Amino acid sequence: MSNTSFTNVTVAGGTGLLGSHIAEGLLNDGSFKVKVLRRLPKNPNEKADLLASKGAEIVYADYNRHDDLVKVLSGTDALICTAAPGVVGGGYDFDALQTPLLNAAKAAGVKRFIPSEFGIEAEVGVHPITDAKASFREKIEQSGLEYTYISCGFFPEYLGWMGFDIKNKTAKFYADGNTILATMSMSDIGKYTAESLKLEESRNATIRVAGSRFSLSEILEKFEESTGSKWKVVVDKEVKHRFQNKIDPVPSLVDLFVAIYLEKSAFENIDNDKFSFSPRSLADDINVLVQQASV
Ligand SMILES: NC(=O)c1ccc[n+]([C@@H]2O[C@H](COP(=O)([O-])OP(=O)(O)OC[C@H]3O[C@@H](n4cnc5c(N)ncnc54)[C@H](OP(=O)(O)O)[C@@H]3O)[C@@H](O)[C@H]2O)c1
Repeated sequence: MSNTSFTNVTVAGGTGLLGSHIAEGLLNDGSFKVKVLRRLPKNPNEKADLLASKGAEIVYADYNRHDDLVKVLSGTDALICTAAPGVVGGGYDFDALQTPLLNAAKAAGVKRFIPSEFGIEAEVGVHPITDAKASFREKIEQSGLEYTYISCGFFPEYLGWMGFDIKNKTAKFYADGNTILATMSMSDIGKYTAESLKLEESRNATIRVAGSRFSLSEILEKFEESTGSKWKVVVDKEVKHRFQNKIDPVPSLVDLFVAIYLEKSAFENIDNDKFSFSPRSLADDINVLVQQASV
């Protein structure tokens, strides 16, 4: 691992679900000066306060005002975007969201841009979310800035989307039970992202990391062990077909995303061994989820 040439790192959307873990990963690493970029207006935010108490500088800009963005990004070596346009509410245009950041980063002399990916690899023609992430890839690659794409496993906190319902002790499988789903805790993604800035191999490359690679049935077993009970399993493998053919009830974009994710989330060639630590176990994450659900 080389010494980092990136000292000043800005995390756009660093108050978010994942972004706060990445900002924390950078702060805990100790090698970086960290700024968290937020949108105006300056709304109170507990995560921003917490990160500020740990040493981050919180900065604000209107993403539609190029000059303001350039000003806050000046002095930044690496810009990590973890902003998300409210996917659950139907916003998915990561291209539109990140383009002003890329333009401003270039004008401000930022060296590296890590875009908001952090899941399966962005690919055109698959789903509006991955389409938008993929079309932004083209812009980065044409910009002349260095880039790293971080592809990582599914966040355990989102296993509910994958059909694991702790309260009702049911699992709805969108694929065969032997389908492999890679997962990765957000705190580990924070550590991997921070360390990627010190890794030669991350320059203009994709870094693939996974905390675990279990089948849906094995993940179900972990939930059953953790809750001490047998779960009911419902199988719905037809989501994509029903969505594409508009067969009632037409699944949501979230259902479709989950079905597609399961086709692409095996993460066979991973880069974990390039990093200095091992990820935490999925069983630990599941135990935390089960405890939280019982409060
Ligand atoms: N692998 C997985 O399982 C998985 C799961 C979920 C998400 N992800 C990915 O992880 C990344 C981060 O997602 P997240 O769920 O952590 O994001 P999030 O919490 O929904 O949002 C992150 C931040 O983005 C900013 N933001 C919201 N709307 C915006 C807009 N329209 N324009 C600019 N900034 C906006 C907000 O910060 P301020 O208000 O402070 O500006 C927010 O705190 C995304 O790429 C997402 O696709 C992966």
